[in-house]
Amino acid sequence: MKNPHELIEKNVGLLTVLILVAISFGAMVQITPLMFQQQTMEPVTGLRPYTALELEGRDIYIREGCVGCHSQMIRPFRAETERYGHYSVAGESVWEHPFLWGSKRTGPDLARVGGRYSDEWHRVHLLNPRNVVPESNMPGFPWLAENKLDGKLTAKKMEVFQGFGVPYTDEDVAGAQAAVQGKSEMEALIAYLQSLGTHLK
Ligand code: HEC
Repeated sequence: MKNPHELIEKNVGLLTVLILVAISFGAMVQITPLMFQQQTMEPVTGLRPYTALELEGRDIYIREGCVGCHSQMIRPFRAETERYGHYSVAGESVWEHPFLWGSKRTGPDLARVGGRYSDEWHRVHLLNPRNVVPESNMPGFPWLAENKLDGKLTAKKMEVFQGFGVPYTDEDVAGAQAAVQGKSEMEALIAYLQSLGTHLK
């Protein structure tokens, strides 16, 4: 009798369909349970949504491409936890849309950079990293100190996040513009950096 596999191996269309079925099944088995597991859906205790200023800072982090050089994902390996602190857990990212875990580490992981340096250190570093780390190849971002936020879209952004299930109150949304108006992009970005990874103790 001929090997029945021959039928599949000699028929590219059938092979493609069967490969897709196999991969989809594998993905379903791996991914679907995570969507129903308490541990991956529940925010860690003490997690709070970003303030209006931090939220604007996060958008600047995205705009400036920081994620291209910095991950925000500490893996559960000793070399990582000794350097950066407790490994990242799913419950810290439940309100991240989109998440900024990243995968490229030209610079260090930033998942727990909050509180590691003073605001002033960040300001000097962002203006020109070589002023504090002489061997750094991170670019400077001096325009952030000059650009001011008008906060026109901040409330709208918070409403979108409410739609994703982030527990912003109506007061948060109402006060959003006043909370960021006139602040520099630098202040917003630093507020965001200082909040990173500080909830899991
Ligand atoms: C071209 C790659 C690159 C880009 C883009 C980049 N960085 Fe960096 N970053 C580095 C490198 C390399 C270091 C390590 C040397 C240093 O501290 O400057 C670093 C260090 C840092 C540190 C200190 C981390 C620590 O634990 O010591 C912070 C905070 C930081 N970057 C924030 C940012 C932010 C915010 C942005 C976007 C506005 C950004 N970086 C964009 C490469 C980059």
